[in-house]
Amino acid sequence: MKLFLIVSCLFSTICAQHAGTNIPEAAPQITIEKCSSGGSCQQEVSFITLDSNWRWIHHVDDSVNCFTVNEWDQQFCPDVSTCTSECALDGVDQANWSATFGIQTSGSELSLKFITEGPFFENEGSRVFLLESETKYKMFSLLNKEFTFDVDASQLDCGLNGALYFVEMEQDGGLSKYPTNEAGAKFGTGYCDAQCPHDMKWINGEANVQDWVPAENGEPGGNGHFGSCCMEMELWQANRKSQTYIAHACEVNEPTRCEGQDCGDDASGDRYNGVCDKDGCDFASYRMGDTSFFGEGSSFQVDSSKPVTVVTQFITDNGSDEGDLVEIRRKYVQNGQVIENSKVNFDGVSDYDSITDDFCTDIKDLFGDVNDHQKKGGLKAMGEALKRGMVLVMSMRDDHESYMLWLDSNYPEDGSGPGVERGP
Ligand SMILES: *[C@@H]1O[C@H](CO)[C@@H](O)[C@H](O)[C@H]1NC(C)=O
Ligand SMILES: *[C@@H]1O[C@H](CO)[C@@H](O)[C@H](O)[C@H]1NC(C)=O
Repeated sequence: MKLFLIVSCLFSTICAQHAGTNIPEAAPQITIEKCSSGGSCQQEVSFITLDSNWRWIHHVDDSVNCFTVNEWDQQFCPDVSTCTSECALDGVDQANWSATFGIQTSGSELSLKFITEGPFFENEGSRVFLLESETKYKMFSLLNKEFTFDVDASQLDCGLNGALYFVEMEQDGGLSKYPTNEAGAKFGTGYCDAQCPHDMKWINGEANVQDWVPAENGEPGGNGHFGSCCMEMELWQANRKSQTYIAHACEVNEPTRCEGQDCGDDASGDRYNGVCDKDGCDFASYRMGDTSFFGEGSSFQVDSSKPVTVVTQFITDNGSDEGDLVEIRRKYVQNGQVIENSKVNFDGVSDYDSITDDFCTDIKDLFGDVNDHQKKGGLKAMGEALKRGMVLVMSMRDDHESYMLWLDSNYPEDGSGPGVERGP
């Protein structure tokens, strides 16, 4: 019976992760610029889409919820294939972007709010992707190039995280690869990252309803049996107290649904047995021993109470787009001044100011961290993903599990020695 259901899913169009038609999608426009080394820039019109995880999931024939707060409806979602065929993801219309989800664009600017008391529910955080057209993500191939953005984190306090990063998703969100995915990039499907998140409601065009555990204390979301893994290059995880950039390589070179050990779950003690480097190799100024580099006020070299321009350069071994990634370099610009990155400030370790494989090895040695970065292929592997192309993600979130202590406080809480202090 089960087999029959699965087969019918593959060959019948009725059984699918549908795209709902109750609310027409109205993707907000945003402009970006593509520049050449001579300094000439061209504007590109792009769009923002909201990750499917935040979207309304309802019964395909009407407007009854398939998913409410943290639970799947028992009637429509008794199993994966029924749920996948009975439920649809829907659009976000013009009014709902801002009123319900706290997301707004204007020209080349995007603003994300954390809590939005909308007309239908209280929304917490968001995750958006850049589209090049209504149905396709914009793929960035950043090897041997630099990426620049301005950010204003002045309203973001400790424990919050406003992030900008790249992940190796499918350009169409998995629409063509998975026959049961009828929604695709337009509806923000196909998210994956190096933490192999289990909280995705849909993976590979199927509801992640198996073994679903609702989030505790009535919090939104939950965790399903499967995780969604892929390479991740984080340019900015930050609030006004602290910031970091992190390379996370994986042993998989495309979005990959995981289960069991491959997901690298902490709960089963498998953190370093999964397919992705969950720790990553991070350059966080505060953690690297320069506590006066980034923070609020003019006494810091980079003043987080004002907007700052963040530049990241992906340098190859032979200065060509085909070379191997050997260095990820960071610069800041504020008040018209270029500010070079802070330097590692610990006895016995060179004063590195960028991510290189040597930096990762030496700093992990000093901190007593596992060098999973090297094990998962190091910068060369990360560079291959940057060459293949990655999708731009911008998000706003908090962290119910570890309260973002790894970003802006002491982590582990009872730890001591170099590498424990990550912010004030
Ligand atoms: C916003 O989304 C809700 C469902 O979450 C929908 O009922 C409503 O029609 C949408 N549009 C407006 C303008 O509120
Ligand atoms: C750089 O290295 C890559 C791969 O090793 C090679 O394919 C490419 O031709 C090299 N380019 C130059 C300019 O040397």
